[in-house]
Amino acid sequence: MTKKILRALAGETQPVPPIWMMRQAGRYLPEYRETRAKAGDFLSLCYNPELAAEVTLQPIRRYGFDAAILFADILLVPQALGCDLWFEPGEGPRLSTIAGPDGLRALKTRDDIHDTLAPIYETVRRVREMLPPEAALIGFAGAPWTVATYMIAGRGTPDQAPAHALKAADRATFTALIDLLTDATIDYLSMQIDAGAEVVKIFDSWAGSLTGADFDDFALAPAGRIIAALKSRHPATPVIAFPREAGDRYIGFARATGADCVALDNSVSAIWAARNVQTDGCVQGNLAPGHMVTGGAALDEAVRGIVGAFANGPHIFNLGHGITPDADPDNVARMIEIIRG
Ligand code: CP3
Repeated sequence: MTKKILRALAGETQPVPPIWMMRQAGRYLPEYRETRAKAGDFLSLCYNPELAAEVTLQPIRRYGFDAAILFADILLVPQALGCDLWFEPGEGPRLSTIAGPDGLRALKTRDDIHDTLAPIYETVRRVREMLPPEAALIGFAGAPWTVATYMIAGRGTPDQAPAHALKAADRATFTALIDLLTDATIDYLSMQIDAGAEVVKIFDSWAGSLTGADFDDFALAPAGRIIAALKSRHPATPVIAFPREAGDRYIGFARATGADCVALDNSVSAIWAARNVQTDGCVQGNLAPGHMVTGGAALDEAVRGIVGAFANGPHIFNLGHGITPDADPDNVARMIEIIRG
């Protein structure tokens, strides 16, 4: 029998949707914190195939999710292209910045990334070997726009202002960076699929700050180019696209890019999305991650609302964004219990 999540991605409506959670291997789990301490820091954990495979599998063992997501980070691609990358404790990622043509010229090429990323492919192979037969393995990468926002600013930003500024001031450099990231992402995801990833997901966490023609050029077009290239190399591997906070631009996104599924953030209502987005195929989402902190009757009601709204089409149950470190592991168990009845 085909795995539940692959059936949803192929367009099958199921009475009980498959379930996984963004950031399901993370700091809210004591076993994750323990393994991370063993690795030393977050990046050492990402590049340690044995320990990265261990944390990838932890939430599957604890909860029986229908999918595991590779433990890694979207910022490993910039690092593989030659950027410095480190994480400031309690703050977030820091990178050397790309300010103009010189910064772009200093980067490596798409063919150079695999030396750095080889441990990630090894993690994929290990997880695939150890995964229970009913669970599927999801690989992932950041979308070019979102990754570029970190490379240009050197850190996370609330409004992606430095990336918008470079786009306005030096279109050629900005476009060349997007093209390089698009090419590198095609090769990176393709290698993950070769290593055993059964689904891949493209995280465009900052897609919502692109409007009008910019959304077409820097969210839709790169996703379309990545998906077309992957489909030509791996026609059977489904792709999930996550243009977070795209709002109305969720409509038609799957058709325009060739994605098999769009992941919905929790700023759109499930009822609206069922009418306007699920009509094109599978959707994933979209419980507000805060419910994993607060629980209670509001959690039960929100989970039932989402399952009900998407019941008449293909659906993968997930959160609208990553689970946060202050989440209560018991609320995750409760969410699953409600969905599976
Ligand atoms: O979903 C998963 O469990 C798979 C692994 C995964 C991580 N990051 C692990 C991680 C995935 C898919 C990501 C994607 C990612 N990383 C995104 C896109 C998705 C999103 O959340 O919007 C972004 C923007 C990043 C960059 C990044 N990595 C930031 C901004 C941070 C710091 C924020 C924080 O929570 O501290 C990270 C660190 C990170 N990536 C952690 C994890 C589990 C926390 C690291 C730790 O253990 O300290």
